[in-house]
Amino acid sequence: METEKIRKDFPILSRTMSGHPLIYFDNGATTLKPQPVIDAVVNYYTYLGANAHRGDYEMSAQVDSAYEGARKKTANYLNASCPEEIIFNSGSSEGLNQVALMLTQQMLEPGDVILSDESEHASSVLPWMHACKEHNYTLEYIPLDNEGKITVENFKKALHPKVKVVCLAQVSNVLGFTAPIKEIVRLAHEQGALVVVDGAQSTPHLPIDVQDLDVDFFVFSAHKMCGPTGVGVLYGKKSLLDQLEPIFYGGESNARFNRCGSLILKDTPLKYESGTQPIEGVLGLSAAIDYIESIGKENIHAYEMELKRYFIEKGKQLGNIHFYNENAESGICTFNVFDNGQMIPSQDVASYLNTKGIAVRSGTHCAKMLVDVLQVPGTCRASFYFYNTKDEIDRLIEALKEATLENCINIFF
Ligand SMILES: Cc1ncc(COP(=O)(O)O)c(C=O)c1O
Repeated sequence: METEKIRKDFPILSRTMSGHPLIYFDNGATTLKPQPVIDAVVNYYTYLGANAHRGDYEMSAQVDSAYEGARKKTANYLNASCPEEIIFNSGSSEGLNQVALMLTQQMLEPGDVILSDESEHASSVLPWMHACKEHNYTLEYIPLDNEGKITVENFKKALHPKVKVVCLAQVSNVLGFTAPIKEIVRLAHEQGALVVVDGAQSTPHLPIDVQDLDVDFFVFSAHKMCGPTGVGVLYGKKSLLDQLEPIFYGGESNARFNRCGSLILKDTPLKYESGTQPIEGVLGLSAAIDYIESIGKENIHAYEMELKRYFIEKGKQLGNIHFYNENAESGICTFNVFDNGQMIPSQDVASYLNTKGIAVRSGTHCAKMLVDVLQVPGTCRASFYFYNTKDEIDRLIEALKEATLENCINIFF
């Protein structure tokens, strides 16, 4: 990994925070943007400008071609069977809500069971909690093992014929464990259940092959993989997308309608893209895919694991850090800091690290059921990406060495 060369592509890495060179370890929340992605967004506003799928002039045709080119590229990135399986939207949260609403309105029956788990992000589980209340479905949870992982064994225990939808993250945003999706999908399909996978934390780091996984729906957000905010993808199997109807109606998703209410929708995927889309975001996502692919997901994952092992080894030597996910195969490191056996509130640790120019996340990380499983009020999360370095981790370790209750609570910005 040519990290020094890569870092030059990220203009924001030359800024300071709290008077120190920025160390950004909050990549699970969102990632920084390289110049080619920034250029793609600016290029749209500078030279393209038109809406997509609407105009009959050259500039508009150029937008259509760039937009549909991004769809093809995204399909290849996920190894979808065709570009029509890619729907652009505002991100993972929208995609997960879209699927929950479509299945609720068009496929599920009262009494059906939805299977989730207690490590899920709010965006994955809340649409189903709401649907269960409104429509008399039952939400059940796959038991987590003692590390907080989803295992095939526990999934088998939770699966039964009333389960109609399984919705879970491929990689947990708090503990960073990777769920055995392929096996889960095989077992769920044997029972006739659909599987919705939240790929928000996996797509930026791991090679994804939706055909090999055989998932029915898969979502991810561009901003977690160096792309722009406000744009994401809902992948769905073509047969399902053709069968389902959208939840949003509006411009350009319809072919015809008349005053009597007769409506003919466009074909998949355009029937799912009502209204003006985040065109600059889609073009930025396309540039982000090129950027990530030029580095290679295998290299990215291997490097993140190297950083994680380095941090855990050094962190354990300090003696005041407790790690919750040492064995997780991702660059997410979740920990708490102790002073004489007393846990320092995670937010105080994060605020203290900020005074050293270091950005980490603290609290419940939008997975509010997991704190009961871990039995802690919150945790600190350092989530690494390919532009982070061991030198930065050394600075984190130096800071954590001095993270006492007194230092963390008496912070003067
Ligand atoms: C596992 C997981 N799912 C869903 C989301 C929601 O993504 P977005 O905010 O981009 O919609 C996140 C964001 O943190 C996440 O980590």
